[in-house]
Amino acid sequence: MRILMQNELTLFDTSIGKKAVMAVTGLVLFGFVIGHMAGNLQVYLGPDQLNGYASKLRDLGPLLWGVRVVIGSCVLLHLTMVLSLYWQTWGARPVRYRVRHYVATNYAATTMWLSGPLILAFILYHLAHFTYPGIAMGNYEHNAEGDVFTNVINGFSVPWVSALYVTAQLLLGLHLYHGSWSLLQTLGLNHPTVNQRRRTVARAIAALVVAGNISIPISVLAGFVK
Ligand code: HEM
Repeated sequence: MRILMQNELTLFDTSIGKKAVMAVTGLVLFGFVIGHMAGNLQVYLGPDQLNGYASKLRDLGPLLWGVRVVIGSCVLLHLTMVLSLYWQTWGARPVRYRVRHYVATNYAATTMWLSGPLILAFILYHLAHFTYPGIAMGNYEHNAEGDVFTNVINGFSVPWVSALYVTAQLLLGLHLYHGSWSLLQTLGLNHPTVNQRRRTVARAIAALVVAGNISIPISVLAGFVK
């Protein structure tokens, strides 16, 4: 009798496993974005408050690096899973449907593919701008010695930079809105009787993150924070 040797399937091999990894990493990143926004909003409390907060974070040393590694790994895993799901779907049906009917999807779902790569590009730009190497995007000196407040004011005083941040936040809002919705479905937290309420909560959190973040470049440009 011929014995068929079959490799064991791991979580990463199944599309539901991949979606679960995307959901969990997405949840961690969602938490980071909310926490980061709360930290950034301290710009309204003045330079001492924001710079003090940034310096406390830096003083965490290895713990801060631990968080950076977790966030970085979540971004990489999120990306790997989405690419892998794409290849799996593409491999299953290399010839596309001639006509597509989007039944259970919506504008946000179909634009996930656009918003995802653009948000990734924004993160890389944002890190180069404010964190490392700290590239001044206008006629000013980036202060690498920890004056985060001045860097934020100088950075957002350049209109095209602020416009870019505002656009990125709108894309982020779209991504968060849909992401949080599919996260509920993947993790089995979706239920017909409470769907509407959960959809509203997901939409409200996404709107809050967008509004909080967008308010910063706009307040700087308007001269409200200086
Ligand atoms: C208008 C909105 C935002 C503002 C004003 C802002 C501001 C900043 C500033 C000032 C830093 C440097 C902190 C320091 O030097 O100590 C920073 C770092 C960072 N930001 Fe943002 N940010 C915004 C939106 C975002 C978004 C939407 C994301 C992610 C999707 C993000 C991800 C990060 C990351 C990963 C770091 C590096 C943190 C670290 O390694 O210490 N930021 N941000």
